[in-house]
Amino acid sequence: MKWQASAPSNIALIKYMGKSNREQNIASNPSLSYTLEHLRTFIEIEPLESAESRWEPLSMPDQPVLELSPKAIQRFLNHVEFLKKQFDYSGAFLIRSANNFPSDCGLASSASSYAALTKAMVRALCDLTQSALPSEWQQADWSRQASGSSCRSFFGPWCLWQGERIEPLELPFPKLIHQAIVVDHERKAVSSSEAHVRVATSLLFAGRTERVQQRLQSLLSALDQSNWAQAFEVCWHEFWDMHALFETSMPAFGYITARSMNVLEYVRQIWREHQRGPMITMDAGPNVHLLYRPQDKDLAHQIERSLKPEYYILSHYELD
Ligand code: PMV
Repeated sequence: MKWQASAPSNIALIKYMGKSNREQNIASNPSLSYTLEHLRTFIEIEPLESAESRWEPLSMPDQPVLELSPKAIQRFLNHVEFLKKQFDYSGAFLIRSANNFPSDCGLASSASSYAALTKAMVRALCDLTQSALPSEWQQADWSRQASGSSCRSFFGPWCLWQGERIEPLELPFPKLIHQAIVVDHERKAVSSSEAHVRVATSLLFAGRTERVQQRLQSLLSALDQSNWAQAFEVCWHEFWDMHALFETSMPAFGYITARSMNVLEYVRQIWREHQRGPMITMDAGPNVHLLYRPQDKDLAHQIERSLKPEYYILSHYELD
C-alpha cells in the first residue's frame, strides 16, 4: 500500500511574522498569499515494519534529489507523529519526498512540504483506521501547527489566513507570471522560526498588527479594483516593514544584501520608466519574488534578460 500527494508553495504579500502562541503557531497578524502552483512538493508514503518512521528522498525523473538536514528530518517526523495521534494510530511509515525546484536555491519549501505531508498522511491514516476524510480546512489547520505558512497552500490562488480562519479568496488576477530572483542560496543564518521570536524584541513591533490590518484592507481593495500600481505599493511597504523588524530586533539581523538591493533598484526603475511592472516581495531571505499580470509579460522577459547573467532565475510564464 502506498499513498501519494503533492502540494504547491505559496508566497505571502501580507506577511505572517510573529506568533501570539509559539507552540501552536498562532500568528500575531493575518496574512495573504498567492499560490505558486508550479513549485511543488511530492510525497509518497508506505507502512513500515519498524518501531519508528523514517524519511528518505523520493526519486522522480528529471527532479533534483532532495537533501534535508537531520533537524529538518526530525521536524518532519514530529509532524508524522502529531498526525498519527489525531487518528490514534501507532504504526510507522516510510516517507519519501521531492521538490520540483532545487532545494539549495534558498526558496522556502516548508509550505509545500508540510501541506503535501499532511495531505498524504491524512489519506493513509483515514484508510488505515477507516475514518472519514477530514475537511480541507481541518487538514490546513493541522498543517499550520507544523509550519504556519503551509496552511495557505491548501487554498488558492489567493488565500487569507486570519486567526483560526484559513480561506480561499475570490480576487481578480487568478493567473500571474512568477519569477524568483535567486540572489543567494546559502543556508540562512537566522531561520524563519527564530525570526518569528526575535521580531517581538523590536521597538517597531508595537503597532505591527494594526499596520498589517490596514495594509491588508488596502491591498484587497486595490486588487478588487484592479489597481495594480496601488497593489505594488502596498506589497513594497509590507516587505520593507517586515525586514525593518528584523534589522531593529535585539540582536539585529537581516537578509537583504547588496545583490538584493540591485534587483530591487532595477525593478523600481522599470516601474518608473513604464508606469507598470511586477509586484515585488521578499520572504525571510535575500531572494526577490516578482509577480506580473499576464499583460506585463514583455517586462517579465526584459527583466529576466537583464538579470540573468548575474542571477539564477526561476520563471514561470505558462498560465494555462
Ligand atoms: O511558516 P514559517 O514559520 O516558515 O514562516 C514563514 C514566514 C514568512 O515566509 C517570512 C512570511 C510568510 O507569511 O510566508
